[in-house]
Amino acid sequence: MCGIVGYVGGRPALDVVVEGLARLEYRGYDSAGVAVLADGKLATAKRAGKLVNLRGALAEEPPPAGTLGMGHTRWATHGPPNDRNAHPHVDCTGAVAVIHNGIIENFAELRAELEDSGHGLASDTDTEAVAHLLEDELKAVGGLAGTGGAGGGLAEAMRRVCRRLDGAFTLVAMHTGDPDLVVGARRNSPLVVGVGEGENFLASDVAAFIAHTRDAIELGQDQVVELRAGGVTITDFEGRPAEVQEYHVDWDVSAAEKGGYDYFMLKEIAEQPRAVADTLLGRIGADGRLRLDEMRIPDRELREVDKIIIVACGTSYHAGLIAKYAIEHWAGLPCEVELASEFRYRDPILSPATLVIAISQSGETMDALMAVRHAREQKAKLLGICNVNGSTLPRECDGVLYTHAGPEIAVASTKAFLTQLVAVYLIALYIAQVRGTKWGDEVFAMVQLLERMPEKVAKVLETMEPVRELARSLAGERCVLFLGRHVGFPVALEGALKLKELAYMHAEGFAAGELKHGPIALIEEGLPVVVIVPPRARDVLHDKIVSNIQEIRARGARTIVIAEDGDESVVPYADTLIGVPAVPTLLQPLVTTVPLQVFACELATAKGHDVDQPRNLAKSVTVE
Ligand code: M6R
Repeated sequence: MCGIVGYVGGRPALDVVVEGLARLEYRGYDSAGVAVLADGKLATAKRAGKLVNLRGALAEEPPPAGTLGMGHTRWATHGPPNDRNAHPHVDCTGAVAVIHNGIIENFAELRAELEDSGHGLASDTDTEAVAHLLEDELKAVGGLAGTGGAGGGLAEAMRRVCRRLDGAFTLVAMHTGDPDLVVGARRNSPLVVGVGEGENFLASDVAAFIAHTRDAIELGQDQVVELRAGGVTITDFEGRPAEVQEYHVDWDVSAAEKGGYDYFMLKEIAEQPRAVADTLLGRIGADGRLRLDEMRIPDRELREVDKIIIVACGTSYHAGLIAKYAIEHWAGLPCEVELASEFRYRDPILSPATLVIAISQSGETMDALMAVRHAREQKAKLLGICNVNGSTLPRECDGVLYTHAGPEIAVASTKAFLTQLVAVYLIALYIAQVRGTKWGDEVFAMVQLLERMPEKVAKVLETMEPVRELARSLAGERCVLFLGRHVGFPVALEGALKLKELAYMHAEGFAAGELKHGPIALIEEGLPVVVIVPPRARDVLHDKIVSNIQEIRARGARTIVIAEDGDESVVPYADTLIGVPAVPTLLQPLVTTVPLQVFACELATAKGHDVDQPRNLAKSVTVE
């Protein structure tokens, strides 16, 4: 949800900022804008639509060169995505420019107050109110040379403004009067500092500056940062020096590039065997026992857990649904899975013996963070599963298990999902090991099977050409249904989500057994229905779904069946058969999801869609 870049140093700021925006465009692409400070004047440019429109405008009318700048790529909340509402926004004097990610919840009252006191607001955004508040607070602190905290008036004005704001925000501002200063502030939305030599960066995500530095500082809640070429000062909103966490980013710029693929999504699908392997790495001891010390929840506390609740959104929620089967089966604990956005607004029964697991690729999804805070208030133990080092979720949990998918840039989640599955399998097996609900050799046997999954996923990827062909042939369809049972049900939901978000088609996932309770009325001649068939070893489950396939086929459905290699029983009922390697039922989502990702990606591409940046979406949803 909105990408933010700030720069101060010796290079042409515009180049650094635009390059950073290109790496952050996945966060929102309703509009893009930049501000550069040159010769004591602010030059701004902004355009509705993708970054390419802004690039065109900058090429036609290049702003004067400066070494202080900031940029923004927007996912619209307040006001339609047009040039007027694009960031940066400026105050009445034109001296202060502001960009923002998040939502200022009390903006209507702030706006009314500003208008009453004579400010003219030119946009519909909540952001613009901040520019005018800064204008007023700068006067209150005596301007740039004012009374403020460490390092000058703009930072102190920012602290005073932040204390008046409700909601979630990352703000970055600059002022014509201080050509060596960018000020940032953060509450609930992400903001990272990139530490260079004689230059420093601010961004929503390290990807924006990874080409220049891999040294970063994670900003905490309610902190303000003053960024100068020679150094960085961080305080809380009261001006007290803040404790900060420095870290080194363990991937380089090539991980954030397409590497010869047409789309990031294609690259990320192809990276899945490695991502799965990396997520297993270092977690299995030489004796075959799992070691998850990084979880930071002592075994003694895990033994006391009497219930697990998983909270997550979107694809991560589907990983949570699959986790339920694994946790109940291996760890023998009751497990509920809840959409994070719903969890917060009901009265879940939690206690110190409840373990809440929040799953989030980005670690910044506001619904997930709010759910975690809700659980914290009720004294539950909190464990995060997260892919982004330095993000908010791990800071708010008692422990974290990182997935090692590397940066996921395409909006549609692929490799992050597979690694989330690996993480939940590891957690379920680890709890089984600690609580003794499975014998050591049973856990070991399953861990050994898990270790073979990268090779199985790679095998699936080798056989995807027929899936691509099928996808192209279905580009004219209006609706596709997905059916599954057991862990195949969340996979069906995931297949439908991928198709909706990429191909903009009506797609629904159903538990195959539920079909006869209503949805079977949707089946009509030629309707494509994808069915995920459990392994033959699960004979009852397997046979039941084979009956379901016959039921829909009898009513005219075009059946696309995903079943394990060699499963002859489905052959007579499959219009198209997609084989996947035989693996245990609980691990099957690791292989059955991949064809659905490829299917959605290819079908959307055939329809001419940009699969990396589907309409109306953003990668990281930092608003509720
Ligand atoms: O970063 P998160 O895992 O918290 O994101 C959750 C969802 O927004 C995300 O999975 C979304 O559903 C994906 N675009 C689906 O492909």
